[in-house]
Amino acid sequence: MKPDENCIIRTEGISRVYSSGGVSVKAIDNISFEVMHGDFIMITGRNGSGKSTLLHQLALLDLPDVGEIFIEGEKTTHLSEKKRMDFRLNRLGYIFQEYALIAELTALENVMLPAMMLESSKVAKKRAKVMLTKIGLHNKFNRLPSQLSGGEQQKVAIARALINHPKIIFADEPTANLDTTASVDVLEIFKSLNDKEGITIVMITHEPEELVYANRIIQLSDGKII
Ligand SMILES: Nc1ncnc2c1ncn2[C@@H]1O[C@H](COP(=O)(O)OP(=O)(O)OP(=O)(O)O)[C@@H](O)[C@H]1O
Ligand SMILES: [Mg+2]
Repeated sequence: MKPDENCIIRTEGISRVYSSGGVSVKAIDNISFEVMHGDFIMITGRNGSGKSTLLHQLALLDLPDVGEIFIEGEKTTHLSEKKRMDFRLNRLGYIFQEYALIAELTALENVMLPAMMLESSKVAKKRAKVMLTKIGLHNKFNRLPSQLSGGEQQKVAIARALINHPKIIFADEPTANLDTTASVDVLEIFKSLNDKEGITIVMITHEPEELVYANRIIQLSDGKII
């Protein structure tokens, strides 16, 4: 067996510097680590420690200035934007703190969107219904985001992230806007996806009590793993 076979993401010395108004900030600084298949990783650290920047790099939403990211052994930093989009669409799911749903679209339409980029709208609709039902929103297909609670909106965002059957789910403080009950709901959904379907989870949290869900915790400080 190759040493890498169990590794789903590997970063080699990645750094990202933001420059604005003549000031540069090294948001992440020479980070090397591996995520294994089936990991449930939580990233923690103070505000501004580089958590979101790191997640953006791992999820191919942004490019590191230095270093390399391999996903399932494939080098990603040299890929064209089109190939990076294919990667995100087919293999990765991303969940934002603020849900990032499209306000004018219903729950069902929001979930269908990524599937429609790969399938007919008929197939996409069918899959979106299955996904929303699985996540407990079978009676909310036609609601607009504004007609849903925060927890329900986040579940729609999870269903959308899952629609193309990703191998990895990234979530940036997915429970930060939710009450305790809705937060536990979301974490239990992640746990079940991880346990039962083997989906790898990488999420950011500020809540110490959420860390028990993780099999590994990564703590960042000033852009470095400590
Ligand atoms: N687009 C940007 N332009 C300039 N600086 C940025 C940008 N995004 C982030 N930064 C800076 O990079 C550093 C890391 O930011 P990042 O958003 O990754 O932190 P974080 O750990 O996610 O913080 P939080 O807990 O507040 O979400 C911070 O100093 C931040 O001000
Ligand atoms: Mg952040």
